[in-house]
Amino acid sequence: MLRTQPTTSLLIKSLIIFFSILIQYPAIAKEGMWIPATIKDHEKEMKSMGLQIPIEQLYNKSGTGLNNAIVLFGKGCTGEIISSKGLILTNHHCGYGSAQGLSTAESDYFANGFWAMNLQGELPCKGLTVTFIRRMENVTSQVLEGLADTLRDSFRDTVVALRIAALEKEFKTKTGLDASIKPYFDGNQYWVAITETYRDIRLVGFPPNGIGAFGGDVENWMWPRHTGDFSLFRVYAGADNKPADYAATNKPYTAEQFFNINVSGYKEGDFTMVYGFPGTTKEYISSFELSNVYNITDPISIEARTRRLDIWTKHMSWTRTIFLKYTSKRAGVANGWKKWQGEMLGLKANNVIGKKQAYEKTFQQWADTSKSVLYAAGILPQMRTAAEIATPLLTQEQYIKEAVLGIELVQQGAAFDNVIACFRLGLSQDGLRDTLTKLVTGMEGFYKNYDPPTDRDVFISMMVLYFNKCTSWIPDEFKDQYRAHDQDVNAWAADVYKTSMLTSIAQLKDFAANAKAGDSTKLQADPAWRLYNAIATMRKQKITPVLKDYTSRMRYLDRLYTNAQMQQFKNKTFYPDANLTLRLTYGQVKGLDPEGAAKYSFQTNLKDVVALNDTTVDIFKVPKKLKELYAAKDYGRWGVNGTVPVAFVASNHTSGGNSGSPVLNAKGELIGTNFDRAYEGTMSDYYFDPTRCRNISVDIRYTLFIIDKFGGAGWLVDEMNIVKAKPTTSTKAKK
Ligand code: ARG
Ligand code: GLU
Repeated sequence: MLRTQPTTSLLIKSLIIFFSILIQYPAIAKEGMWIPATIKDHEKEMKSMGLQIPIEQLYNKSGTGLNNAIVLFGKGCTGEIISSKGLILTNHHCGYGSAQGLSTAESDYFANGFWAMNLQGELPCKGLTVTFIRRMENVTSQVLEGLADTLRDSFRDTVVALRIAALEKEFKTKTGLDASIKPYFDGNQYWVAITETYRDIRLVGFPPNGIGAFGGDVENWMWPRHTGDFSLFRVYAGADNKPADYAATNKPYTAEQFFNINVSGYKEGDFTMVYGFPGTTKEYISSFELSNVYNITDPISIEARTRRLDIWTKHMSWTRTIFLKYTSKRAGVANGWKKWQGEMLGLKANNVIGKKQAYEKTFQQWADTSKSVLYAAGILPQMRTAAEIATPLLTQEQYIKEAVLGIELVQQGAAFDNVIACFRLGLSQDGLRDTLTKLVTGMEGFYKNYDPPTDRDVFISMMVLYFNKCTSWIPDEFKDQYRAHDQDVNAWAADVYKTSMLTSIAQLKDFAANAKAGDSTKLQADPAWRLYNAIATMRKQKITPVLKDYTSRMRYLDRLYTNAQMQQFKNKTFYPDANLTLRLTYGQVKGLDPEGAAKYSFQTNLKDVVALNDTTVDIFKVPKKLKELYAAKDYGRWGVNGTVPVAFVASNHTSGGNSGSPVLNAKGELIGTNFDRAYEGTMSDYYFDPTRCRNISVDIRYTLFIIDKFGGAGWLVDEMNIVKAKPTTSTKAKK
């Protein structure tokens, strides 16, 4: 439609209106991971973005908020309660360890999945716990009272630790629950969380890997995604509904708060929230430290892991035995490897270091004239000096960690230190043999998943890398061994793996069973241990003390820097870096289009999954039953337009630890489970860019379809509260 030119005054007026809207609601995709007890401050903005419930439903002081429906699952994931009977939904990769503990050759849950058909069928998971956050309180004044900002950490830490211990004790007595106090904003604030940890947790449902880990490492950290990355557990409690050790008589936990599930779907632009436990972010990091990440730690780790993964992958393709030994190790090593590549890409594309430097310039200008924070002017110069001293050592440290200790045999030398120490205890011969045998038996787990020829190839590759990159830092022992083999790394490797006792548990057991006083010299002659020992000694003498100093110096300066920035921008609402405490983040359903090519939608579906089916590649093998359900369009109540939605992307600010977190709509109803971020935006741990950063979630309808139609466990759906009505969104409609 053609418009007439507005008059100048009209133009100015509309510009003013436009900018005032912009100022009020800056970016609609929203950076920040907020402490639940502070979200009242965000109510206005969240409502403007689409929130339709009173903010108190998400968290309130009287303890009836939806925070009670979220748990820290195990040590580093999130789970949500989805029924009044304590049913927990989390990720498949978060339940993986528990499923492994329960799997046997006869009942292989990775191949076949697991579905309890009634409460009696649910399987106790030894060692698994979940923690509820009942309430949070700002205790900064009690912890920091009378302590000057610039007080050295050595003294400050002692006082703070004593006060925390006393306060925690007081909270425990007062509430009858657990209490844990943690630092926020680099130690400028302290919050207490009143918690309850349940320790009888049972496995309820676990899709086979063909669904729960579909796409494996290839699709990991990527959008589009096709993984049904979910599993189900249940909290059990004693007769009083309180935490109890496992007992057959325990009962499903009665949950006062749990998530209603909305199956009416969402569209691009809809308001979403993710409520969970992000682990570590560093959004206020200085350009100096970020340069070290970008120029040293990330690239060296990627360089060394690329080589290691190539070798592992090659050997794993040769035999099933090697595949099984290395598949889980490989997944862990590859997860970081891929994430850091995405991180570097994003940091570069956004010129984040340049942006930080520009920001630091304005900070310095303010600091030079600041009357409110007298120490501010000295912070950045001190950081620069500290970083300059540490930089060369960080390079060495990273090559040692990723290249030298990436050789499993050398890393295994560390375990040998304890064996050698036994000889100094002056034990009787029987005592010595007994102690050694016990130590060696403890290494069985490692050797079960160890293949010396694979590791020997890693040795060759890593030593070449190390010798090339670390020249003047190479310990003499390394050079001596290399020279003794006429500088032929292949011959050197062959000899080490032939001679070292550390290559097999059988040799170690034999040694332990026949050991005599004085045999420690045999160990000290072992070429693999000698390499480990040379590296450990050099580290201890030349690297660790400097890096320790650097870390504690930076910790101190980071605290002052964060505090100064908060003083500089008094009107800005800062959010604390992630620290594995409960946080709420909000954004909207949003497709990912980093190249502007509009290639992918914001959602994938079952049709896409089936299209990827490849029976020759394990991670892309769609289970037979799933294919049958698809062919028959037998989707039960969960189908939409002839298919089932599988995964979707949104612009919520999440991090590692948010795996398994509930993804909520404008009414606080569950629409999905978070499980990953997109490659283009993994730099969000340092810098959040709403145009590239996306969290990836399983659509709740895929979860329900798999439970109900694939697993045949409809009895679980019956205990959930399923809502069909669409929330009446959206922001645009309201404006
Ligand atoms: N990238 C996700 C996270 O950081 C998922 C990891 C598990 N999946 C995998 N293919 N390794 O934890
Ligand atoms: N997969 C991650 C986790 O285990 C979540 C992905 C992320 O880092 O955002 O927590």
